[in-house]
Amino acid sequence: MERLLRNFFLFLSKNRFFTKLAKKYGLRFGAGKFVAGETVPDAVKTIQQLNDKGMAVTIDHLGEFIDSKEEAREAADGCIDAIKAIGEHKLDSQLSLKLTSMGLDISDEVVLENMRRILGVAEQEGVFVTIDMEDFDRCEKTLEIFKKLRSEFDHIGTVLQSYLYRTVEDIKELDQYNPNLRLVKGAYKESPKVAFPDKKDVDENLKKIIRLHMLNGNYTAVASHDDSMIEYTKQLVEENNISKDLFEFQMLYGIRVERQEELVNEGYKMRVYVPYGNDWYGYFMRRLAERPANVAFVLKGVFGK
Ligand code: FDA
Repeated sequence: MERLLRNFFLFLSKNRFFTKLAKKYGLRFGAGKFVAGETVPDAVKTIQQLNDKGMAVTIDHLGEFIDSKEEAREAADGCIDAIKAIGEHKLDSQLSLKLTSMGLDISDEVVLENMRRILGVAEQEGVFVTIDMEDFDRCEKTLEIFKKLRSEFDHIGTVLQSYLYRTVEDIKELDQYNPNLRLVKGAYKESPKVAFPDKKDVDENLKKIIRLHMLNGNYTAVASHDDSMIEYTKQLVEENNISKDLFEFQMLYGIRVERQEELVNEGYKMRVYVPYGNDWYGYFMRRLAERPANVAFVLKGVFGK
């Protein structure tokens, strides 16, 4: 049943008609639990609150799977506005984005032009930029673009997903770039031809890549709400005397908030991924797919308590 629900919400997450409706009608169905609002001022307010609690942030100007150069340009402008707001309000925040919103499906030229524009402003404002990882079909291209940009800019990182068979090799191959990587389990619906179908293998592989990347001496963001990943990381760090400057924990806005606070109180660096914007639909559907309890929460919001 859980797998069925997961597949259903992941299927819905790619529906372009609902994406357009959602943009038009604004945050609904309890999406506000996971999305900080629709505007930059909404996001600034949330970041300030999190910073006050000792948490760093990575802000995500929501957007994915756009169709035209104009939309890609607008999405890049949205990111630039967010970066300027971070600078203006002196916030402790990085930026995350998806290459499909920058024109990945249009051409390399479009995506690179938008990314260079964003990275130029981010450099001036001292803001680090992470390229989120999307579905398997875009993984190779995303890594190619990352490598190209990494050879031009220092303040850029990306994400690897432990559900993909290829990821251990990617960790090894990327080591020459000394990359700052966020390591996650993976949030898209993938074929067993390219990804582990069993959760226990995905979990084991996440531990494996955390270990590999950390012991290579590279900056590692362990992005998981799973206590066993957090405990594994703590132990690894202790056994190998890895400095607290070389890793951080990351979680999503609105998920396991008490655990986020506990990690800060224990002295760990905790970064919260804060999405905002009107393109909230796909992100929200993926959060529902991850946890059936979130669906009950949404139904309560729709039909009353
Ligand atoms: P897992 O799914 O095993 O969950 C462990 C526990 O965490 C659950 O038992 C539950 O208690 C809690 N939990 C997890 N998800 C929840 C939810 N939605 N609502 C409520 N509780 C929940 N993926 C990707 O493909 N590309 C990317 O770029 C990113 N980026 C990213 C950034 C950050 C900061 C995070 C934390 C995650 C991502 N992800 C991602 C998503 C990631 O791939 C994965 O889908 C989710 O983090 C869920 O996996 P967990 O590791 O949390 O473990």
